[in-house]
Amino acid sequence: MKIVTLKIKNYRVFENLEIEDIPSFCVIIGANGTGKSTLFDIFGFLRDALKNNIRQALQVRGGYKEVITRGKEQENIEIELQFKMNILNTERLVTYLLIIGEDHKRPVIKREILRYKRDEHGKPFHFLDFKLGQGYAITNEEDFSKPKEKLEREEQKLESNDILAIKGLGQFQRFKAASAFRSLIENWHVSDFHISEARGSKDALYAEHLSPTGDNMASVAQYIYQNHSDLFQTILTKMQERVPGISKVEAKDTEDGRLILKFQDQAFKDPFIDRYVSDGTMKMFAYLILLFDPKPHPLLCVEEPENQLYPTLLRELAEEFASYADRGGQVFVSTHSPDFLNAVSLENIFWLIKEEGITKIYKAKDNQILRNLVEQGDLPGYLWNQGWFEGVAP
Ligand SMILES: Nc1ncnc2c1ncn2[C@@H]1O[C@H](COP(=O)(O)OP(=O)(O)O)[C@@H](O)[C@H]1O
Ligand SMILES: [Mg+2]
Repeated sequence: MKIVTLKIKNYRVFENLEIEDIPSFCVIIGANGTGKSTLFDIFGFLRDALKNNIRQALQVRGGYKEVITRGKEQENIEIELQFKMNILNTERLVTYLLIIGEDHKRPVIKREILRYKRDEHGKPFHFLDFKLGQGYAITNEEDFSKPKEKLEREEQKLESNDILAIKGLGQFQRFKAASAFRSLIENWHVSDFHISEARGSKDALYAEHLSPTGDNMASVAQYIYQNHSDLFQTILTKMQERVPGISKVEAKDTEDGRLILKFQDQAFKDPFIDRYVSDGTMKMFAYLILLFDPKPHPLLCVEEPENQLYPTLLRELAEEFASYADRGGQVFVSTHSPDFLNAVSLENIFWLIKEEGITKIYKAKDNQILRNLVEQGDLPGYLWNQGWFEGVAP
């Protein structure tokens, strides 16, 4: 499953943003305040809304008035995503549309739609369609041979008009698109890795996935080591290639029953506990644990992965993200690092420019000058440094 287009209206800096043909590996550059974090936050917003309701998702972001684009308070917030997914052995382009407005000073869901074409011709069919807490979903959506009059509608009234219909319906396998979309949003991961939280001995918890801050890294390392030894070996080999001197990483039990990461440097007999290894070593290990997760996240967002990493490692890191995308995941990365960008193709680069408070997005590959320069052998990071990504510098 892969997101291919994104349309946003009136969500903070994005008064009217449209991105089409989104690649599996998507790298965003832009000056501070242009909306890189906001872009990733769209997914975070959907996930929070799915967990609770839109009111709460808005509340943790300062409330509806803070989130809707300044000056657009009379309009609605609109989020539209198109994603490719396989339904009964056919790849379909599914659209999810969410319109949020205000009613008596309370945020409400004015419209929520999931639609896709049943066959090559014809208009996209609404498999789920809700207005203000009421609507329907199709229960026999996989009966593509049936004419659309024969599809069974299940009318529903939701508990309240600030709850997403996909929240409830997405729990049922019979609503194919709704449950697939729900699981994409739920399993989305934004990395907010803090080295300080990953360090130190930890309660030996069971954890299969790295947490956003990385505070369970030792537990996840132990889980992969014990249950997916081939993947653990891959991670170790990559660590050895990327961090000079490192020969082994182990999650060790401490005397008081806790867990700690130990890094073996080949120059010394005893390993170092994670408190005494470099920030870059910790971070590289964290990214490898994330990228070689036995059950990878379908959608991964990473902000500025370059922090604390030695510049020469950034090329490899960019290649690791690209290879994660090749293996089927989708990755969004924001960066300020020319070294990182040097390892990325123009097709994967998007840049944000803010003018009079509103941000627009540009694709590097649509820029003829950039294309010519890259064809002549220049690297994107170099061109960015030289000011060829017009308007990107503050
Ligand atoms: N409701 C809003 N309307 C318009 N702009 C907003 C709104 N809320 C926040 N902003 C602007 O959005 C920007 C935040 O962007 P952010 O995603 O943090 O940028 P980046 O991550 O690229 O540094 C800030 O410049 C802020 O002024
Ligand atoms: Mg930011």
